[in-house]
Amino acid sequence: MSKPVILTGLRANNDLHIGNYFGGLLPLIDMAKNRADDYQVNLFVPDLHSFTTPIDHAKLQEQIRHNLRLYVAAGLPLNNSSVHIYRQSYVPAHSELTIILNCFTGMGQMGRMTQYKDKSERLGDEQISVGLFDYPVLMASDILLYGARYVPVGDDQTQHLEFARDIAERMNSKFQTELFAVPEPVKKQHEFFGNDQGLRIKDLVDPTKKMSKSDASGKGVIFLGDDPAVAAKKIMSATTDSVGTVRLDYENQPGISNLLQILALLTGRSLDEVAEEHDGQTEYGTFKKEVAEAVQAFLVDFQAKLQNVNEDELTEKIVASEAKMNEQANATLHRVQKAVGLR
Ligand code: TYM
Repeated sequence: MSKPVILTGLRANNDLHIGNYFGGLLPLIDMAKNRADDYQVNLFVPDLHSFTTPIDHAKLQEQIRHNLRLYVAAGLPLNNSSVHIYRQSYVPAHSELTIILNCFTGMGQMGRMTQYKDKSERLGDEQISVGLFDYPVLMASDILLYGARYVPVGDDQTQHLEFARDIAERMNSKFQTELFAVPEPVKKQHEFFGNDQGLRIKDLVDPTKKMSKSDASGKGVIFLGDDPAVAAKKIMSATTDSVGTVRLDYENQPGISNLLQILALLTGRSLDEVAEEHDGQTEYGTFKKEVAEAVQAFLVDFQAKLQNVNEDELTEKIVASEAKMNEQANATLHRVQKAVGLR
């Protein structure tokens, strides 16, 4: 019997930030470290997703390798045969399944995706690509090819995860066979990863929007590659409010609440515990300094680990994983090809 699969991917369109780290990467790494006896754990670079919005293509190859290194620095164990690390474009079944699923996906459903609407609003008409529009179908293929049951993602990807469930169920019903394993409902996913909801780290300058890799100034974002001292300064200059007391209140004090969340994640404690400990504190400067120091210490430690990644071991693991993933993905693809009449 094959093991149930836990899977996630993080795009390589830029350096990763702490939202990516805590929202997608760390929950998966924890599983790879602690649950690989019971689960297969897949971590991949969705490289084909990297240019759904415009990027500098001369930098992509290095960015992909860099992100693979980040996965290892974050603690992904390479010496476990149930853990896999791979690049999406090296498993061509992802692209082929996408082409097939496209024909069972409505234009209306894709057009209603919040992330598509947000991103296309920011881009000019000429820059909105079919790839951006179709992004959730490729993401569904990433998940369904391996029959993934659990997919740790931040809150911004919840809608895409729901779409993966939806298309799996529709295909199973249309072809009256168990073509795809359906990922667990989102609520169950949160329970599995020990959260009550999806994580959403906010931008430090504008805490009403999410921290995002594509933030042009980078001032509101803590990147994993930031100079730790510079990152500490970003926290010290984070936008707060004029209330004057620390309180967990996303509505009225989004900046302070975001800093409480960041502190909780960095210190491995629950948000409620950290919020309670700081509730009523009146010196924002003192509070921010505590968060800034935690960020700085985290980055110093993480970057030291990044320096120590063994390149040969990483390459060897990627090659082995990609061979294995092609086997698994092709088996699913073949089932689908037969169902739709291509084989
Ligand atoms: P990406 O690369 O935009 O983000 C990677 C992960 O980081 C999470 N994330 C956040 N979490 C908390 N707070 C934030 N501010 C924040 N910003 C980003 C994202 O939710 C994600 O978990 N579509 C995916 C990549 C992908 C994928 C997949 C994921 C492609 N195929 C299959 C899972 C399964 C994306 O763009 O993530």
